[in-house]
Amino acid sequence: MPKQHTFKVVLLGESAVGKSSLVTRFVRDQFDPYKESTIGAAFLMKVVPIDNENSANLHIWDTAGQERYKSLAPMYYRNAAAAIVVYDITQAASFERAKSWVKELQRQAEPGIVIALAGNKTDLSDRRTVEYAQSFGLLFFETSAKTGDQISGLFTELAKKIPIA
Ligand code: GTP
Ligand code: MG
Repeated sequence: MPKQHTFKVVLLGESAVGKSSLVTRFVRDQFDPYKESTIGAAFLMKVVPIDNENSANLHIWDTAGQERYKSLAPMYYRNAAAAIVVYDITQAASFERAKSWVKELQRQAEPGIVIALAGNKTDLSDRRTVEYAQSFGLLFFETSAKTGDQISGLFTELAKKIPIA
């Protein structure tokens, strides 16, 4: 039996970039084109293999991106082992917001936090306004919660980058 390690992971990013959709695709392999905006935050778990001896039990906090919930975010990124900062490749403003989340995490979260940047909605690449982002040394993926493109890669690579205590 592989050894299971529990890691807290937080998703951050502007409203409607697809945070909840990414998590729902990853955990349940489902996609809802009429997904409702998150209130407060949602919690989901999933176990992913890391190697032959270890697996990661990801405790995922999917935060609400609407401005009125902004002050709650530190509660969710506090003690997090990893964060996924999401933007929408068709919305340039969401990329600016993502960069400011990365800065906030680098200043305020746990010093060793593993940060991934995810440019979501690659299925809408004909409406792309954000070019493939130079990822500032972060783990970087372009994803589609709609098609499932790169979703398991994102979570699995993130889990593998978290140091095992
Ligand atoms: P908040 O909870 O308000 O912070 O938003 P969110 O970031 O959780 O976004 P959510 O997952 O609710 O998705 C917003 C809208 O974008 C929904 O209509 C989704 O169906 C749609 N959406 C999410 N991911 C994708 C994607 O990869 N491609 C396309 N085409 N639509 C997507
Ligand atoms: Mg949501």
